[in-house]
Formats: sequence, structure tokens, C-alpha cells
Amino acid sequence: MIAVSAASGAFGRLVIDQLVARCPAERVVAAVRDPDKAADLATRGLQVRIGDYDRPTTLKDAFRGSDRLLLISSPELNSVRRAEQHRAAIDAAGLADVGSIVYTSFLGADTHADGMTAAHHVTERVLAESGLPHTVLRHPFYSEAFLNEGLHTAVSSGHLIDGTGGRGLNTALRSDLAEAAARILTEDGHSGRAYDFTGSLWTYGQLADALSRISGRPVVIRDRPDRAPGVQGWLEDQIRSGGLERQTADLRDVLGRPSVPLDRAVASLLSAAALGK
Ligand SMILES: NC(=O)c1ccc[n+]([C@@H]2O[C@H](COP(=O)([O-])OP(=O)(O)OC[C@H]3O[C@@H](n4cnc5c(N)ncnc54)[C@H](OP(=O)(O)O)[C@@H]3O)[C@@H](O)[C@H]2O)c1
Repeated sequence: MIAVSAASGAFGRLVIDQLVARCPAERVVAAVRDPDKAADLATRGLQVRIGDYDRPTTLKDAFRGSDRLLLISSPELNSVRRAEQHRAAIDAAGLADVGSIVYTSFLGADTHADGMTAAHHVTERVLAESGLPHTVLRHPFYSEAFLNEGLHTAVSSGHLIDGTGGRGLNTALRSDLAEAAARILTEDGHSGRAYDFTGSLWTYGQLADALSRISGRPVVIRDRPDRAPGVQGWLEDQIRSGGLERQTADLRDVLGRPSVPLDRAVASLLSAAALGK
């Protein structure tokens, strides 16, 4: 049996779609905070169980009988609390005799213990100290994060603001990362490994070209003189330190095909109408 925590979220649902294509639905456990949000999964034949990171007693029951657990990281923003939630899940997996844990971490979490990777860094250590067989999937930023309101602005203004200095970015679609997770959960030979997952490189120049093609309006990149805080600022720091570009494309190895780069995916993810053609 394979259990997936935080299964009602966008990533969890994509993994579940991939899992039920590979094994019977009744062999998949969707551990969710609120079963009402997963009623459709129960209808599809999955076992839906309550598994709330803030209520550790629910987790042991949720994971019971599972050979493998996909521990999807919590969306909690407070790093200390997030790490405690993950620790509760790992402890519960041990108590429930789960065979092995696959954890969704983030690129750089092995070496960086602060900011966005703080809780992942702690969780990777807790996993190592748990003695439980495990696999770490270090995710890049989801490509979907770049498909935001800024693209509409770019199409209407004709300028896509680029803070990368023209360098390539590694992001990956949730769907590619979900397929990789499902493969790892259903195949042997992944225990004891940490995968630095990256997608195919893309640049803002390629994204601007894709926007032009889809919208039928010219869009060109414009360098951003300042640095905004938040995700983009963090990303730029990573690019400066070589963090993102340095990673190898292990996603290709697991998928057996190249992952879909954002500039190509943008056409299927954003309709011309949505871009204000
Ligand atoms: N790599 C990236 O770029 C990136 C970007 C965003 C997030 N992430 C990480 O990846 C994870 C999955 O992403 P996503 O897109 O699937 O996020 P999402 O759609 O927001 O889903 C988050 C999931 O976490 C569940 N959850 C929240 N609090 C919980 C708790 N106390 N106990 C158990 N489950 C809880 C939610 O349950 P409900 O349905 O009950 O709310 C939901 O199922 C996120 O949680 C976050 O750690 C990564």
C-alpha cells in the first residue's frame, strides 16, 4: 500500500493520478486534513484517511499498513512549525512501521539551513536520524509559479521584466515532478537516494518569444534594474551563487524523457484568450 500525505493539494492530486495509473486505487491511501475535500478520491476507490500534521495521533492511523509513504511538505510558512509537522509525520511513520518514506524537499536543502530551505534542511536531518529507509526528492520551483499576472502585464505592455541577466532558469512542472514521484514510489532501487530534480533550462527571452507567439503581440524582455524581495529575489540570489544552473537534470533520468521547459509549456497552460489576445 502507498500512502500520500497532503493528498488534497495540487501536487498530491497529480501524484495520485499517476499512482492509480500504475496500481489499483484501493492500494493507495490519501491522507488528508479534511476528508470532505477528498470525497472525489474516495469515489474513485482510494482509501481516504485523516492525516493532519498538527494532530500527530491521526498520522499513525493514516499511515498504518503502508509499504511506502510520500511525505509531501507542509505549506506552513513558519519554518519551526513546518519542521515540527514533518517530524510528527516521520515519527508517526516509524510507529506505523511504514516501509520507506519519500519526502518532497527543495533544491539546496542539504547545504542551506536558512530561509526557504530551513524546514527542509531540518526534515532531511530528522529523516537521516530516524533510521527509516527513505528517498529525498529535492524540487526546484514549480514552473506554474512563473505563470502569473505578470505575464498578462507583459503582453499588454510588450515588456517582460527579466531579473536574471539572461541566464537560464531551472524550474519544473508539478506534473513532471508528480510523475517522477509516482515512478519512485512504485519502483525499486530508489531508497537511500536524494534526487536534485531540475527541469529543462529556459530563459526569459524564450518566455517572451512564447508569449509573443501565443498572444500575437510582440513581447520583448526588459532587464530589471532593482531587485524585488520574495521569491524572485531568492531566485536571483540562487542564480548568482550558481545554485540553480549548477544542478543536474535528474528529472530527465527518472522520467526517461526531457521535462517540459516553461516556454514550451506556457502554450498549453495559458490560452491566447487568457493572455488578452
Ligand atoms: N517547489 C515549489 O515551487 C513549491 C511551491 C509551493 C509549495 N511547495 C511545497 O510543496 C507542497 C505541495 O504543493 P501544492 O502545490 O500541492 O500545495 P497546495 O495545493 O497548497 O496543497 C497543500 C496541501 O497541504 C495540506 N495541508 C495543509 N496543512 C496541513 C496539515 N496541518 N496537515 C496535513 N495536510 C495539510 C493541504 O490540505 P487542505 O486541502 O486541507 O488545505 C493541501 O492538501 C506545499 O505544501 C509546499 O510545501 C513547493
